[in-house]
Amino acid sequence: MKFFLTRLCALLFAALLAQTSAPAVAQSTETPDVNREATGGAQTLQDILARQRGETVPLDQGQAGPLPNPEGAPGELGTRGGASDSSLWRALRQGQDVFTSTNRDPLATTMVQNDGEAWLATRQGPLVTYTGYAFGGILILLLLFLLFRGRIKIDGGKSGIRIDRFGFLERFAHWMLAVSFIVLAVTGFGLLAGRDVLVPAIDWLNVKFLHQDGAIDTAYGKNTFASIIGAGKWAHNNLSWAFMLALVLIFVLWFFRNIPTWTDVKWFAKAGGLFSKNSHPPARKFNGGQKLIFWSVILFGGSISASGIMLMMPYEFAMFSPTFEKLNALSAWAGFPQNLATETTPIQEQQYAQTWHTIVGIVLTVIIIAHIYIGSIGMQGAFSAMGSGKVDLNWAKEHHNMWVDKLERKGNLVNVDTGEPAYPTRPAE
Ligand code: HEM
Repeated sequence: MKFFLTRLCALLFAALLAQTSAPAVAQSTETPDVNREATGGAQTLQDILARQRGETVPLDQGQAGPLPNPEGAPGELGTRGGASDSSLWRALRQGQDVFTSTNRDPLATTMVQNDGEAWLATRQGPLVTYTGYAFGGILILLLLFLLFRGRIKIDGGKSGIRIDRFGFLERFAHWMLAVSFIVLAVTGFGLLAGRDVLVPAIDWLNVKFLHQDGAIDTAYGKNTFASIIGAGKWAHNNLSWAFMLALVLIFVLWFFRNIPTWTDVKWFAKAGGLFSKNSHPPARKFNGGQKLIFWSVILFGGSISASGIMLMMPYEFAMFSPTFEKLNALSAWAGFPQNLATETTPIQEQQYAQTWHTIVGIVLTVIIIAHIYIGSIGMQGAFSAMGSGKVDLNWAKEHHNMWVDKLERKGNLVNVDTGEPAYPTRPAE
């Protein structure tokens, strides 16, 4: 009992003491001009109190002038009065050069990088989400197109006469581009979203089909995914060279045939006749839609390649700040604001490269899914152009009449199976 009373008295006394000592927040400071000379530029008591009042302290906005300890990082950690470590960490967070290093790694003096958080959030959030929407969207559109329009048939039926469309080199370049692109797309989106999509999928398959008898390995999905994506990363990096080589070949081989002409405008005005039967707007060897595919492949493929090289060889190139400078100049000329960052750090360049690589990758993959559809199940007679390199004469006349006419005028319209001129199916004039 005596012990209990003593403890109660001690508690009451402590409560009384707490009542009489004024809280630190209640202290007021009316000094608007803070003199930081005494602290060597570091924060002062006024700064701390101002923050507690919810005011903005210039120091927090990187306007404080010299760093608290210009000679370098403090030797010992611990309470350092006015020259507190919080100023140092704030400076680090604001990206100021606090340290120097003899290490040649461009990141050696970057300890905290605020933009990294925004980049990571974008990579794990919108980039994954929009990839899903984009792929889902194009698949639904193509399915609807197939349902309502059906397979685009050769209106006049097959003639049985085959003519040459693409030579060996063209087909070789096309398939090198196609195979490498498909592997790059699959592994690339695996790297982006595999952890979210494949790990649960593999776990589900494991539970459903492999280990239904109880003992479930909870790390199965992650471990299996790690092996798959390790190989995927290797394939992604190495096949990129095949893609770039094929891109150059395709550009050289087909550049002249893909220069836009007035015929293409008319082709687009009729939507290429894609939505109605028996409608075939005039076209040369490549129609307007194909030219659009060609230039998308060249421009987006080129841009994916450039940003991919940046990712494969980190910190070797800075492509975004010079690009942003030019875009700002263009904006200024057009009377728009110029707010793209022109002073990027090496790590920011990498982050921009990753984001851009993915965005352009999504756009090109969507275009290519549509291309694969129309080049295979979507249009009767199209695939053989890239398979055997030969097409049915009626298909050619319906989809590329100007090209056929030109071959005929030059005497080059030949039935590849007989070696004879392929004239007989031409309607009598
Ligand atoms: C399995 C996948 C693919 C199939 C079945 C396919 C089919 C075809 C066919 C049949 C043509 C010739 C069309 C014609 O005779 O007029 C063609 C052309 C072309 N392909 Fe592919 N392709 C595939 C993948 C790709 C990929 C992945 C790329 C690029 C990344 C690509 C780029 C091109 C280009 C630029 C052309 C010329 C322009 C055009 O005809 O649209 N192809 N493709």
